[in-house]
Amino acid sequence: MRILYVVGTRPNFVKTAPVIGALRERDPEGRHAIVHTGQHYDRLMSEVFLEELGVPAPDYMLEVGSGSHAAQTARTMERLEPVLADEQPDLVMAPGDVNSTLAAALTAVKMGVPVAHIESGLRSFDMTMPEEVNRIVADRFAEWLFLHSPEAVTNLRHEGIPDERMHMVGNTMIDTLVALEERFRAAGTAARLGVEPGSYVLVTLHRPALVDGPLLGETVAQLAALAQRVPVVFPVHPRTRKMMEGLEPDHPGLHLVEPLGYLDFLSLLADAGGALTDSGGIQEETTYLGIPCFTLRDNTERPVTLTSGTNTLLGLDPTAIARIPALMAERGNARLEPSLLWDGRAAQRVADVILAAED
Ligand code: UD1
Repeated sequence: MRILYVVGTRPNFVKTAPVIGALRERDPEGRHAIVHTGQHYDRLMSEVFLEELGVPAPDYMLEVGSGSHAAQTARTMERLEPVLADEQPDLVMAPGDVNSTLAAALTAVKMGVPVAHIESGLRSFDMTMPEEVNRIVADRFAEWLFLHSPEAVTNLRHEGIPDERMHMVGNTMIDTLVALEERFRAAGTAARLGVEPGSYVLVTLHRPALVDGPLLGETVAQLAALAQRVPVVFPVHPRTRKMMEGLEPDHPGLHLVEPLGYLDFLSLLADAGGALTDSGGIQEETTYLGIPCFTLRDNTERPVTLTSGTNTLLGLDPTAIARIPALMAERGNARLEPSLLWDGRAAQRVADVILAAED
């Protein structure tokens, strides 16, 4: 088979690496070409991840970089089109919900190339989130929809997607976590940063709704206040770093650090007392690891992390950060049902589906 994998951002690499690995292994005669759109381009946001995940060097680097949504999406489509024309793939595989996903799905469907979408069917029902638009478009045009949570089926049926296109395969991001577990458990990143395992809150915040407007100032003030009670480690996403200029508080308990590689990040997450985030993936990773997660958003497209995991929705309200120490003390247990298939074998199921379709 000729498969073109299109990735562009940190979480894309994590979700796709095991799928590329499984399909390359099981279809060694096939063509497995990787396109890196360049949506994320800093070494710490891109190469480090690809290296740690063992993803082969991309066959194409589109170098689209940053820009408005329209500019970034259009640039990706324009540069992807000739690649598809040259490669003539049997399918384009795109993960997640970022602008690179949207661009890959639109370019492929317009050229008559079937699309496979990893992480289908998630919905926040909040159209102001760019990711919600991207997901809906990718799912609408995908021939193969790979699902990892039960509500995805309901959401997709509600949108009229036929059941034959849906494949409940499990969570490929958790495949990566499982594959790296031995290495990140041995990494000892907390000690290197000078924080006691179990004592600190790990923070990641990068959503435009939080960091691009007036809420960021209050959030930073609340983090400084939290750091007086428990240590806080905050690897700062470049988008947030830019918006935080002039706001950086000076408090000894608040560790603002550069974006981390995935092994360091998972090591810190596994050893954290709790996580504060607006990321989707971290709601899932904490669920798997049983670490209390506090999500600074009004909604989540991953409700299974609330019902089966350790996630609590704080609302899009920085003052709620003050509640974290009390909430951490009453941490609940994750109850991950085996039927969820967050078991490290999701990519093999993706390969089962695709290779069976070829026969
Ligand atoms: C993107 C995704 C988001 C995902 C996140 C994961 C969209 C609409 N958003 O958000 O869904 O959760 O990736 O991290 O696709 N920048 C750098 N270096 C980089 C990358 C970005 O400095 O390597 C800075 C630039 O100033 C850029 C800004 O971050 O303008 C935003 O980058 P962009 O890729 O547009 O969105 P993210 O916030 O990273």
